[in-house]
Amino acid sequence: MPERYAVMGNPIAHSQSPRIHTLFARQTGEQMAYERILVSIDGFAAAVAEFAASGGRGLNITVPFKLQAWAEVDRRTARAERAGAVNTIAITAAGRLGDNTDGAGLVRDLCCNHGVRVQARRILILGAGGAVRGVLPALLAETPAELVIANRTRARADAIATALAGLGCVTACGLPELAGEHFDVIINGTSAGLHGELPALPKGLKIAGTTVYDMVYGKTPTAFCSWALEQGAAGALDGLGMLVEQAAESFLLWRGIRPQTAPVIQALRR
Ligand code: ATR
Repeated sequence: MPERYAVMGNPIAHSQSPRIHTLFARQTGEQMAYERILVSIDGFAAAVAEFAASGGRGLNITVPFKLQAWAEVDRRTARAERAGAVNTIAITAAGRLGDNTDGAGLVRDLCCNHGVRVQARRILILGAGGAVRGVLPALLAETPAELVIANRTRARADAIATALAGLGCVTACGLPELAGEHFDVIINGTSAGLHGELPALPKGLKIAGTTVYDMVYGKTPTAFCSWALEQGAAGALDGLGMLVEQAAESFLLWRGIRPQTAPVIQALRR
């Protein structure tokens, strides 16, 4: 009997995780079944309990349950503890272990797959929701010269910068304060693109020569990537590689094997 894994979220129909983990399982010869589970907004705790009781071995958690998942597990890895959000749960006889592989996934894609240097660079991250919170510890571990969190609602950026102050040089501001600034790398971690919008960045933000990374992806270039290239960005990358890399980290936690990501990224791109 293949062991059971799943991704839980709401909505979930669009999730590529089943496809990615099925390709990983085929590549590594692991016997596992992976499904999508649509969970009602107030039904997360019950859904996890039911999955565990029926013999399920591992979960990926996506929007909007990552913060709730953090509270729902018995133990957390150090990186999940720092991130304040859980995107991976391993279910064993010892209980539920919560991990967060989003930050490692972003850093692996940005730095290893695309060769973008973060160390000693000025980095801007847009947004201050769960997605951004989850990746910041891993980004700060790369020791950027400065990491600026800019958010439409400035108070949320301030709160994250305060919470993570011990991890490196991290500051916060609102979007208008970005006028006149230049960064080596800009990461879009807002959900604006999901509503077909762009974050309202000031005209004076200098994009020429900057590499931008959008944490979301699409069949066509994202609105943020297209906008940045029009402004003279040196390169524009979407988040498909991050999605596959965070999945590989989850697979490693569950099965003890790190699958190769390049062929899976290629398959999804096709
Ligand atoms: P997630 O878990 O995906 O991060 P979230 O917690 O709802 O979701 O956070 C969404 C982020 O995108 C927030 O930083 C939000 O800004 P606010 O804190 O001001 O709400 C940001 N965001 C969403 N739509 C945006 C838009 N049109 N322009 C700028 N920022 C936007």
